[in-house]
Amino acid sequence: MLCRETLKINQAGHLEIGGCDTVDLAKQYGTPLYVMDEAYIRNVCAGYTATLDSVYPDYKVCYASKAFSTKAIYTIMREEGLGADVVSGCELKTALAGGMDADSIYFHGNNKLPEELAEAVKAGVHAVVIDSFYEMTLLNEIAAQKNKRQSVMVRVNPGIDAHTHHFVQTSRVDSKFGFSIADGTAQKAIETIGTFENLSFIGIHCHIGSQIFELKPFELAVEKMTDFMVALGKVGIPVAELNMGGGYGVTYTEEDKPLEPRQYAEAIAKKVKACCAEKNLLEPHLVLEPGRSIVGEAGITLYTVGAIKEIKDIKKYIAVDGGMFENPRYALYRSKYDAVLANRMSDSAEETVTVAGKCCESGDMLIEDIRLPKAQSGDLLAILTTGAYHYSMAGHYNRNPIPPVVLVRDGRSDYMVKPESYERIMELDTYPVWIKKR
Ligand code: LLP
Repeated sequence: MLCRETLKINQAGHLEIGGCDTVDLAKQYGTPLYVMDEAYIRNVCAGYTATLDSVYPDYKVCYASKAFSTKAIYTIMREEGLGADVVSGCELKTALAGGMDADSIYFHGNNKLPEELAEAVKAGVHAVVIDSFYEMTLLNEIAAQKNKRQSVMVRVNPGIDAHTHHFVQTSRVDSKFGFSIADGTAQKAIETIGTFENLSFIGIHCHIGSQIFELKPFELAVEKMTDFMVALGKVGIPVAELNMGGGYGVTYTEEDKPLEPRQYAEAIAKKVKACCAEKNLLEPHLVLEPGRSIVGEAGITLYTVGAIKEIKDIKKYIAVDGGMFENPRYALYRSKYDAVLANRMSDSAEETVTVAGKCCESGDMLIEDIRLPKAQSGDLLAILTTGAYHYSMAGHYNRNPIPPVVLVRDGRSDYMVKPESYERIMELDTYPVWIKKR
């Protein structure tokens, strides 16, 4: 279950992460608490870069920062030689504030706002990844106003649905993202970009899905993308960059059997090489955008067990001090997780319980039916694999503060994101002039 090197059981029988006792972390920082393991994050990054250095040296790994975006994570990514994929004005701003070079940033999104495009052009991002005809016109105008020529890629839909067992046959044409290769829109989009004076087409991008375990859908996507490069070559359009997105799976429960993150990168890079050789294409600059696989398993969330309620012969709930405001993934996707009683790691599982959140909503669960030692109020519960799409998807439902994030490394811990006070949440509240404050 604790299949990560950085998670250990210490002599006190407590869960340890990055050399820090989770019971001490809970005492020092309170709960709920997101904890991120720096060594794990850096190891995954180093695995990607070492693998690609040897297999396909003309590459860039861009961290998909929607998974977890804070200033310090961009600093770490930059130190590890990664770039970043951002999808909003504030992700861009955070990336720049965290020291990411603009030239290592790709700006994505299916409906980027005019202000966001203006910020991207002003910052000088490496590429804006165009996702609609509307966006081309808008971006061209913005670039023209700034007297700049903006490099762009085009998000294409290669028609592979990686989320079915039949991904080979299935083609998702109903996606809100990208231009379809199959119906000719993608080529039309790229030809249209050629008519804009202030846009410069550099390559194509696809992202076929997330939490994918098999290599096959990625390899199929490479086939389709390189076929498309051939088609573009025939009309005289060179493709300098090929961005294959992210999507590599991680372990949430023992049902999940992902490969090592670097193995996905290796397989994709090798497939690109093979396809280019076979189709007589110049090898493009290869970009990969992993998010979840870098930070997912690096994170755990610590909770204090509060109310325990048994509905006789039906169900036992243990409620914790978190919930859908800090982890909406069960409510949204019925996501599954593994958890442990972090203060009692030597005790064996005795009962099946459902971990409930504290929000006023029946669907506010974190884990349904998990085997745990008999929990008592005050116990420390750790949910594993919460580093990706947790903090970044958190909200203030019921006016709950979003928990702080602590980074751990070699027995040290410190804030990456500080705690939110009630005052901070109320800070932007104001009174319309006709409402009189009492
Ligand atoms: N590149 C693009 C263009 C993407 O849209 C995404 C994820 C990634 C890269 C990174 O994918 P990853 O390596 O993290 O799988 N909120 C969902 C996940 C949504 C992913 C959206 N796009 C969740 O909590 O599972």
